Amino acid sequence: MSNNQNALRIPETLRKVKNIVGVFSAKGGVGKSAISLNLAIALKEKGLKVGLIDADIYGPSQPSMLGLSPGDLKVKDEKIISPIEKKGVKFISMGLISSERMPVIWRGPMVSGAVMQLLSQTDWGELDFLIIDTPPGTGDVQLTLLQKIAVTATLVVTTPQKVSISDCRKGIEMIKKLDVPILGLVENMSWFEPNDTNKKYHIFGKNGGYGISQGLRSRSVWTNSVGGI
Ligand SMILES: Nc1ncnc2c1ncn2[C@@H]1O[C@H](COP(=O)(O)OP(=O)(O)OP(=O)(O)O)[C@@H](O)[C@H]1O
Ligand SMILES: [Mg+2]
Repeated sequence: MSNNQNALRIPETLRKVKNIVGVFSAKGGVGKSAISLNLAIALKEKGLKVGLIDADIYGPSQPSMLGLSPGDLKVKDEKIISPIEKKGVKFISMGLISSERMPVIWRGPMVSGAVMQLLSQTDWGELDFLIIDTPPGTGDVQLTLLQKIAVTATLVVTTPQKVSISDCRKGIEMIKKLDVPILGLVENMSWFEPNDTNKKYHIFGKNGGYGISQGLRSRSVWTNSVGGI
């Protein structure tokens, strides 16, 4: 299990989860969901047992990326939710809870409470990795996840754009303050390459992610440019 000393307690449903990786970025729309899904599938293809939780209440995007809808979800005893298995990955999302079910499953009025309930009321079983696709920002949901769940490590996503870089630094500060390890930084949307030419256009600027990674004190800092917008 994870070694995050900030964790207060480990919910029963997460006891057999070996590693929890949170994908963060203070900025919206930089590719957290796309990268979370790709990471989950890549780990599964390595033969590992993987789960993915879409922790975005207001804009859950994973269900549509995976072609799922609320009807696909099964709730045991009005309390424990069976995750949906898609592409070999156990998956749960706020977007799968139909509006009639919401008052039953979420007792707390607060969004972060609902995220915590979804995470801890899902029957994850044995997993090597549970990936958390977080919503944008450095607010209550992100803080609650980092403080109350034994997050093993985080992955930070940015684009090379200045506005994303400055938001990303805020996110990194929050993670560092809470003493949760940062696995690395992904610079997404690094360039645009039209189909009819091999030329790369750096429409959001260049090397912004590399600049931030230089400031990170981590054993395994890397940046990975993901282009192909
Ligand atoms: N490398 C990429 N190439 C092409 N399209 C991409 C790439 N990365 C992300 N996208 C697309 O950009 C859009 C935003 O990505 P995504 O939803 O993953 O961002 P996000 O950070 O999760 O957003 P939010 O903050 O709203 O949750 C999506 O339509 C996604 O498919
Ligand atoms: Mg998202």
